[in-house]
Formats: sequence, C-alpha cells, structure tokens
Amino acid sequence: MKKIALLLAAVAVALVAIAWPREDYVASTSPAAWASTPENIARGAYLARAGDCVACHTARGAPQYAGGRALDTPFGRLYGPNLTPDKETGIGLWSADDFWNALHNGKARDGRLLYPAFPYTNYTKVSRPDSDALYAYFRSLAPQHQPNKAHELDFPYDQQAMLAGWRLLYFKPATFTPQPARGLEWNRGAYLVEGLGHCSACHSTRNRLGASGETLSGGLIPTIGWYAPSLTASGEAGMKDWDKEHIVALLQTGISPRGSATGPMAEVVARSLQHLTQADLGAMATYLKSLPSNVTPAQDKGEPASEQLLAEGRRLYGSYCVDCHGLEGKGKAPAYPPLAGNRAVTLTPAVNAIRIVLNGGFPPGTAGNPRPYGMPPFSHELNDAQVAAVLTYIRASWGNAAPPVGTPDVNRYRSVPLD
Ligand code: HEC
Ligand code: HEC
Ligand code: HEC
Repeated sequence: MKKIALLLAAVAVALVAIAWPREDYVASTSPAAWASTPENIARGAYLARAGDCVACHTARGAPQYAGGRALDTPFGRLYGPNLTPDKETGIGLWSADDFWNALHNGKARDGRLLYPAFPYTNYTKVSRPDSDALYAYFRSLAPQHQPNKAHELDFPYDQQAMLAGWRLLYFKPATFTPQPARGLEWNRGAYLVEGLGHCSACHSTRNRLGASGETLSGGLIPTIGWYAPSLTASGEAGMKDWDKEHIVALLQTGISPRGSATGPMAEVVARSLQHLTQADLGAMATYLKSLPSNVTPAQDKGEPASEQLLAEGRRLYGSYCVDCHGLEGKGKAPAYPPLAGNRAVTLTPAVNAIRIVLNGGFPPGTAGNPRPYGMPPFSHELNDAQVAAVLTYIRASWGNAAPPVGTPDVNRYRSVPLD
C-alpha cells in the first residue's frame, strides 16, 4: 500500500514537473575570473578537503578523483563521477561556468539534472570565487581516463522528470547570506558548516523522497545503519555548553574530553576536518556553539528492563568490558571513554552503540592523535541477546537512564556492512 501511494505521489510530481517550464541555465553572476595560479590551486585543494569531495569521487585503490565510488541510497546505487580533467571521461571540457553550474545549480554540463546524493543542496551556498578556486584545483590534476559508471536506480527514481519534480519541491539555488550582527567568525563558521561542510547531509532527517532539512536535528543514515545525532539537542550532540577548544579538538583530532568521533564521523574527521586551519575550525566551533540547545522530548521508555536482564548485563560487563571502561563506567582518559554520562551510549535509536559493540570502533588516526585506542569487536564473542543485555545494562547504570535495547535491534544491524 505504502509503495503504491509513493508511486502515485511520484507520478503526480513527475507530471507537475513535465508541465512546468524548463528551468533556464543560470549563468554565473560574475564571469569566469578563475585563474590557474599556484595560490588559487592551493586554495582549491584546501576547499576540496573542506568539502570532502574525495569521499564520493574516489574508489578504493583507484587514482584520486577518478570516480567510480559506489554510493548506496534507499533509491538505488549511484557512482561518483570522474572529476579529473580528462577530456573524454572527466571534466576536461568543462568551463568554470559549467563547474559553478554543477555546484550551485546541480546541473551537469549537458544540462542533465544531477542527483542530490551529490550534496549540491549544501554546495549551492559556495561562493563563486571558491567555486573557481576548486575548478582551478581540479584542472591542475593529472587527467585519468576512466569512464563513468552508469547509476543503478530503481524506477521511478531513474527518471529526469522525477528529479525535476523533486527539485521543485526541495531545491532552490541559494547564496550564503551573512548576518553582519553575528560577526565575521560566526559567519565564516556558518558558511563552512552549511555549505562545503555539508553537515546537514547526514545530521538531518531525510524524508521518504530523500530530502533532508537543514536543521541539523539528527538523522538515521539508513543504508549504512548509523545515526548522526542532533547538533541542536542537549541530550544528543548539541555543543552549546562545550568549551570552544573541546569542539575544535573533536573536529581536528577526533577525540575530546566530551566525546569522540567514530564510524562515518571518524572518516569525515580523517579525510576533511583535520586538514582545516585552526581559524576555520574555531569559526565552525563558534557557529556550532550558537545553535539552539533543545531538550529532547521525554521518550516512551517502553517496558523497563527486568532485574534478570540487568543482572546478566552486569555479569557480561564484568567479563568483557570492565578492564577498559571501569567498574563505575568512568573509562580511562584519554584512551578509553567513559560510558557513564556519555551521550553516545544513551542515544536513541541505540544503533551506534550496537554497531560499536558488534564491530568495534576507532576514532580517526589524525596528526593530533596518530595512534588512537580502539574498541575490539564482539560480534564473534557475544550473541544478539548478550549484546542487547550488556547495552541495556550500561544504558541504565551510573546515572544513565535510556530505554532497553532489544535482541531484534541487535540482529538487524549484525549483517549491515561497515560502510
Ligand atoms: C556525498 C557524496 C558526494 C560528495 C561529498 C561530493 N560529490 Fe560530487 N557528485 C556526487 C555524485 C553521486 C555525483 C553524480 C550525480 C549525478 O550523476 O546525478 C556527483 C557529481 C558531481 C559533479 C558533476 C560531474 C559530472 O560529470 O556530471 C561535479 C562537478 C561534482 N560532483 C563536484 C564535486 C565537488 C567539487 C565536491 C566537493 C566540494 C563534490 N562533488 C563532493 C557525489 C558527491
Ligand atoms: C557522512 C555523514 C556525516 C557527515 C557529512 C558529518 N557527520 Fe557528524 N556524525 C556522523 C555520525 C554517523 C555520527 C555518530 C558517530 C559519532 O558519534 O562519532 C556523527 C557524530 C558527530 C558529532 C558527535 C561526536 C560525539 O560523540 O560527541 C559531532 C559533534 C558531529 N558529528 C559534527 C559534525 C559536523 C560539524 C559536520 C560537518 C562539518 C559533520 N558532523 C558531518 C555522520 C556525519
Ligand atoms: C580493549 C579496551 C576495550 C574493551 C574491552 C571495551 N571497550 Fe568499549 N571502547 C573502547 C575504546 C577505545 C572506545 C572508543 C572507540 C571510538 O571512539 O571509536 C570504546 C567505545 C565504546 C562505546 C562508544 C562510546 C563513545 O563515546 O562513542 C561503547 C558504547 C562501548 N565502548 C561499550 C563497550 C562494551 C559494552 C564493552 C564490553 C562488551 C566494551 N566497550 C569493551 C575500548 C574498549
């Protein structure tokens, strides 16, 4: 039933889109002033890191930016295209205007509408000079002859009319509008977080048509099974009451006295954030601190855990976890994080904690923390019911008060690949 309703909605959207006048090619606001100077290329290289372009445009073991990286979405699989200046298979024939048109308007050189798996809903806010610097950088790379792979999307998502409809509903080219009253630093941080940093691509809920808000209020990334916590909620990853230097430490080194980056966030830190300047990280921290700090509404806690389940969880904790995390759940700074009062432990949904216990976890290896301490995987030692029991125990101990974890929840994530 749901599928049929969705399909009908899709068809309706597509019909509207077909009837709608074609969007015009939006020419650049300032004519191409790009220059292939060493300064511009270096700036473009820096901005490419701030935007984490490599994440989706480089396949494992393949030359950088030659494309071919598979990206799974609930609508099918897309492949990041070749961004090297090869004339046949890359962007060798693209002008600075074409490049800007992709970043700002989400359109390819041939006018094709691009899928928002390419986060142009964020990159639309990148300034024209920054787009030109990025262009200069990509032009400076060695051309790689590697034909793009065709996307493998389900019907009707493979239809351009569907995408046109989607864009009507959810996308408008935008420019970043500074708020002078907030000061230069805040505005620089907002520009980076909302634009190149594309934090909302993961940290916002996506609706059934894959559109994410820009609210940073947290979202489940369904295909990889991780929850990106709310950056605007005190019970999740809101940072209003954090010291600025702790936020900078988290973004730059992946660890901080208040929390650490793991899973997909560890990759964001490793590939992108650790390479940013102190000034830019400080600006992002200032902006993140200024976000609202909402109180997460009281959840339905469901059935409280039975004494028996908690006793079993305590026993397992004593055998498998206590050496590193301690009897009182205090951990051992800086190697082993505390579990008491740790928001990553009490998050609901509990998916991240489940995945860490099953698969283990590492903060990223960064210049500031080159040999991170890891958490060993327990998927071979503990069955689903045992993982559920030990998690239920740590979520209800030492002042933590989060709902129990069910055995089916653990089972659901046991087979999801790590990335
Ligand atoms: C989260 C994944 C992701 C990130 C990050 C990303 N891209 Fe992409 N990009 C894609 C995908 C997927 C496409 C293909 C979209 C399509 O074909 O509809 C694409 C397409 C493009 C295109 C159009 C190329 C063509 O041949 O049509 C350009 C240009 C581009 N990206 C530049 C960038 C730049 C510059 C950055 C970094 C600032 C970046 N991308 C970061 C996923 C990503
Ligand atoms: C590819 C998806 C993705 C992107 C992009 C992303 N995040 Fe995350 N982030 C996650 C996930 C998943 C987690 C939960 C795992 C964890 O706690 O490290 C997370 C966790 C966090 C945390 C909480 C860390 C803790 O444990 O206290 C902060 C803060 C954060 N992200 C900030 C950001 C900022 C700022 C950006 C943009 C510059 C960003 N994230 C971009 C996926 C993402
Ligand atoms: C060998 C030491 C070690 C053992 C044993 C260990 N852990 Fe961990 N644990 C770590 C480290 C190190 C981290 C941080 C990993 C990261 O940030 O990616 C961690 C992280 C975690 C987290 C996520 C906390 C956060 O801030 O993101 C949870 C939950 C957790 N451990 C639970 C457990 C449970 C339950 C057990 C027993 C079944 C256990 N750990 C056993 C070392 C250990």
